[in-house]
Amino acid sequence: MTRPRVVAALSMALLSAACVAPLESGGGGGGGGGAPDSGIHVDAARAVDAAPTADQLVAEWSGCMTLDSFTAANMIAWANVATTLNQRCGGCHTGGAEGFIASPDPAIMFKAISEQKTFLLQYFTVDSAAGKMIVNTASFLGVNGSGHPTHPRFNAMVNAGMTALQAFYTTTAAKQAAHTCDPPRLVP
Ligand code: HEC
Repeated sequence: MTRPRVVAALSMALLSAACVAPLESGGGGGGGGGAPDSGIHVDAARAVDAAPTADQLVAEWSGCMTLDSFTAANMIAWANVATTLNQRCGGCHTGGAEGFIASPDPAIMFKAISEQKTFLLQYFTVDSAAGKMIVNTASFLGVNGSGHPTHPRFNAMVNAGMTALQAFYTTTAAKQAAHTCDPPRLVP
């Protein structure tokens, strides 16, 4: 009666041993490869030692964002978010004016925020204390604040763009956690 259980436990142990081994050799190989210039092996570099810098976090994040998840999240909703005077973000920011892009064209908008750090950082920012990327609510609250007295007002926290941004954040963070990101897309 107990035998099958023992056998099962044993094969589980063997399985987990088999699972661990390739990870270790893979890690060793990555470390040994050491190509600090390429910027591609962000994860391998991070695993070794120090916490990632803000620049590394942003670069890595740019490779975790994909056009597919951007489109699925409906990020182009930003183009149509309305101000209190019923102007649309895209009316002024379609082409990225003032360092903020809200385009109805997903390919154009994705390219801008994945390749240009200034555009990316309006939507996402680094939480240095937590050592990770977060949704940049401060940029939307800020542009409604006293520092921007003439900017059109809008509901910074509740709008279709923010809903899309949260969804895009979730899928992007999931790719990062699964280590399935592409190399950084940021253009230096
Ligand atoms: C009537 C034109 C106009 C519309 C509509 C508009 N903006 Fe702007 N936006 C500006 C201008 C001009 C600036 C730069 C001056 C300023 O910050 O007030 C700016 C700056 C910004 C910035 C950058 C602030 C910074 O300090 O980097 C953000 C973010 C932004 N807008 C978001 C939005 C969002 C989101 C919407 C839609 C809800 C929107 N804007 C609608 C004209 C507009």
